[in-house]
Amino acid sequence: MLQKLHEAADFIHSRIAVTPEIALILGTGLGDLASLIKDAVCIPYQDIPHFPVSTAPYHKGQLLIGTFCGRPVLVMQGRFHYYEGYSMEQAAFPVRVFRLLGVHTLVVTNAAGAINKGYGVGDLVMIEDHIKFFNDSPLRGQNLEEFGPRFNDMSDAYTKSLRTLAKNIAQEQNIPLHEGVYAYMPGPSYETPAEIRMLRTLGADVVGMSTVPEVLTASHAGMQVFGLSFCTNMAAGIEKEIKHLDFSKVGIDHFNRLISEMVKQMP
Ligand code: HPA
Repeated sequence: MLQKLHEAADFIHSRIAVTPEIALILGTGLGDLASLIKDAVCIPYQDIPHFPVSTAPYHKGQLLIGTFCGRPVLVMQGRFHYYEGYSMEQAAFPVRVFRLLGVHTLVVTNAAGAINKGYGVGDLVMIEDHIKFFNDSPLRGQNLEEFGPRFNDMSDAYTKSLRTLAKNIAQEQNIPLHEGVYAYMPGPSYETPAEIRMLRTLGADVVGMSTVPEVLTASHAGMQVFGLSFCTNMAAGIEKEIKHLDFSKVGIDHFNRLISEMVKQMP
C-alpha cells in the first residue's frame, strides 16, 4: 500500500510546480468552485497510478492543482464512495497521497440531507463531529506508522480553530451557517424515515454517504480538517418524498464565498 501511495504521489509531483498546502474535496454538485482555480494543472484520475476512478453522477473525476485565493491548492473534483463498490481504504486513498505531497489541511464538502428540522434546503452546515455506524474503517488492517498511530484520537478531528474561523467569516459576510453532527450512512438508498428518526434521537443533524472515510484518514495523518455540508434535501420522512437534490443558487453562492474566505484566511 505504501508503495502505491508513493507512486501516485510521485506521478502528481512530476506534473506540478507548486507544493499544495490545502486539499479541497468538492462533493456531489459542488464542483463549480473549481472554475475559480488559477493556472490549474488538470490531472484525470485515470492517469494517476493506483487512483480509483469516479463513477458517481455529477462527478468529474479529476484533480486540479493551482492557486485559489492566493494559496496553492489541490482540488478533487469528484470523490470515491463506498456505495460505488470501493473499499473504505480506496475511498480514502487520495487523502494519503495528498499528505505525501505536503498538504496539511483538508477541506471536505458534501451534499447532505437535513435531519434537523430547524435547517432548510440550501443551508450550510459546518461539521463539528460525526457518527459512523458501519463496521468498517479505512484504517482497518496494518497500521501505516508513517502516517499516524494505530489508535488515533478523534477528539478534535474537525479542527476547532477552523470552525471558529468559519463562524467569524460567516458573521462578517452575512452567510447563514449552522454547526452540526454528520451521520455517515452507506447508501446507495436514502435512509428510511425510521432510520432518520433514530439518527435524530442520537444527535445527528445531517446525513450523507461520504466524507467520513476521508476525515478518518486525514485525522490519522495529522491533518487539519474543515467539513462543510450543503443541505440538498430534507432527510427521509420529513417531507413526502426525496424527489431530487436541490443545489439552490443562493446556497451555492454562500458555499463559494465561505470556502474562498476560509482558504484565504486559514493557517
Ligand atoms: N441521505 C443520504 N445522503 C444524502 C442525502 C440524504 O438524504 N442527501 C444528499 N446526500
